Amino acid sequence: MTDTLRLDASPDGLATAATLLRNGKLVAFPTETVYGLGGNALDDRAVAGIFAAKGRPSFNPLIVHFASLEAVREYVEWPDMAQRVADALWPGPLTLVLPLRAGAKLSKLVTAGLDTLAVRMPANPVARTLLELAEVPVAAPSANRSGRISPTRAAHVLETLDGRIDAVLDGGACDVGLESTILGLAPRPRLLRPGRITAEALTELLGRPVVERKDTDQISAPGQMSSHYAPNAHVRLNAMDWQPGEARLAFGPAESCDLNLSPGGDLIEAAANLFEYLYRLDATGASRIAVMPVPHVGLGVAINDRLSRAAAPRD
Ligand code: TXA
Ligand code: MG
Repeated sequence: MTDTLRLDASPDGLATAATLLRNGKLVAFPTETVYGLGGNALDDRAVAGIFAAKGRPSFNPLIVHFASLEAVREYVEWPDMAQRVADALWPGPLTLVLPLRAGAKLSKLVTAGLDTLAVRMPANPVARTLLELAEVPVAAPSANRSGRISPTRAAHVLETLDGRIDAVLDGGACDVGLESTILGLAPRPRLLRPGRITAEALTELLGRPVVERKDTDQISAPGQMSSHYAPNAHVRLNAMDWQPGEARLAFGPAESCDLNLSPGGDLIEAAANLFEYLYRLDATGASRIAVMPVPHVGLGVAINDRLSRAAAPRD
């Protein structure tokens, strides 16, 4: 057990968090998507520590977070398409998968042996300041034990990682509430994980179709494991009515419910509330959470992706 420091997003808290990261310690920090569990991506021990703290199978590659484009380009090849996407959407909730540059000195554990690297420049001001002060690339998966719900508040992080990591930097609630969209660009654009930035938006930006990942593809992504986003309770999707004993999660107008993702049917609000509300309903001890249908349009695609994983059968 480690004593997990609670840091606030003051200049002192940020400086302490940055020093810890640089020195190979594990620090959970806010981004605009979800809280990340950060470790120095140049340091094998730190990266191994991330896997250990999460209890995550080590074959999953991690996303590396940067403060600037210059820093990103030290580590990956940078085609024109990447520049176009970065100009329009970075910093922001979008991860790019690009060929790793020869000689890049990252820990091999970060890429799990792949010859590509997932890179991201978050927009959250606390994350940006932390990355600037740390002066090292920061590998960060979502800051939860493997297989559990991604955290959108510091309290969620502590729920599964207290005593397992060195510090958590509290920057309040995350705006987006869903992990970043992942776009592969090597060589053709492919959507590897849906998120706040949709395939339609990327297709329009690039002027060419952004193909969605096929289930038969080889890339190992925790998002592809059936029960990656699982609460303790079982999850019943597309509930048109409530059954006795269920925790009731509504979307849009609802006569009765325990929590409503968005009474007005706003998908952005629903995404921001999704993980927080699953945490809260799980904490009631209910054995099942019933969720009303969420339309499969725009951001609803990503919300349904996470919900269907939360509902998937598990061992
Ligand atoms: O919003 C986010 O992206 C959050 C915050 C903390 O930045 N991070 C996050 O990381 O969701 P994680 O580790 O939970 O998800 C990383 C995803 C996995 O699905 C992984 O397989 C994929 O990125 N990934 C990483 N490197 C890859 C690569 N070289 N090729 C394809 N997929 C890759
Ligand atoms: Mg995760």
